[in-house]
Amino acid sequence: MKRSVNFSFHHMVRIPEPELMEDPIQVESYAQADFEMAHSFLIRKFQDRLPLKFTPESILDLGCGPGDMSSRLFSQFPDSNFTFVDGSEFMLDLCKKRMGTLTSKKRNQKMEFKKELVQDFVPESPFDLVFSNSLLHHLHDPFEFWGAVQRSIHTDSFIFISDLMRPDSLNMADHLLERYANNEPDVLKKDFYNSLLAAYRIEEVKEMLEIVRLNTKLNLEPITDRHWICYSKPRH
Ligand SMILES: C[S@@+](CC[C@H](N)C(=O)[O-])C[C@H]1O[C@@H](n2cnc3c(N)ncnc32)[C@H](O)[C@@H]1O
Repeated sequence: MKRSVNFSFHHMVRIPEPELMEDPIQVESYAQADFEMAHSFLIRKFQDRLPLKFTPESILDLGCGPGDMSSRLFSQFPDSNFTFVDGSEFMLDLCKKRMGTLTSKKRNQKMEFKKELVQDFVPESPFDLVFSNSLLHHLHDPFEFWGAVQRSIHTDSFIFISDLMRPDSLNMADHLLERYANNEPDVLKKDFYNSLLAAYRIEEVKEMLEIVRLNTKLNLEPITDRHWICYSKPRH
């Protein structure tokens, strides 16, 4: 299988950032950041794309970080079994703490926290819902991410992935920084900026989907000036 993506050079080249978020200051400020606006918008898009009456028994959150999205998923599906994966122990601990404060009526609900690289993640059984926000741009080899997704699904799984997209120029990146992170602490600003430069362009994601043959299963759409979503096509 062809493993490389023919990235175009007409646009700003990608500048990778470290995969794991492990620096205590970076982690703490990310965990304390107010993602309400961006994350509630993404969750609404997710809800709009879900099949009617979808109640997943098992949910995977890849690259869960400190669990802001995870807790939103939990409120929507309080009785599902959850598996949270993150390669950063610090992040995973914060996620564990946050999820510990939430309760479900269901007894025997399974909550698993796995400190693992997505590259190494091999689930015992596939999940009904595979979710991931803001992880792909961290990966130096994006196909490692898609491999983990493919190992985690069955034919009826619903997939929802969202991430940032790389702007066309440094000017555009500056503009996005000013527009969306102007009042944030410097660490967060730097994080956001580095993430924008490390993000994949939507054309690049499209090409990845074609290479791994997920393009027949998934739709890909830009939804803001800096985010794309990718989700299972409706089944007829
Ligand atoms: C930007 S945060 C996103 C966290 C969360 N999904 C959210 O929406 O807030 C990215 C997370 O992915 C984790 N991560 C990055 N590369 C990873 C890898 N190769 N394997 C596992 N986790 C990884 C980082 O440690 C970090 O917690």
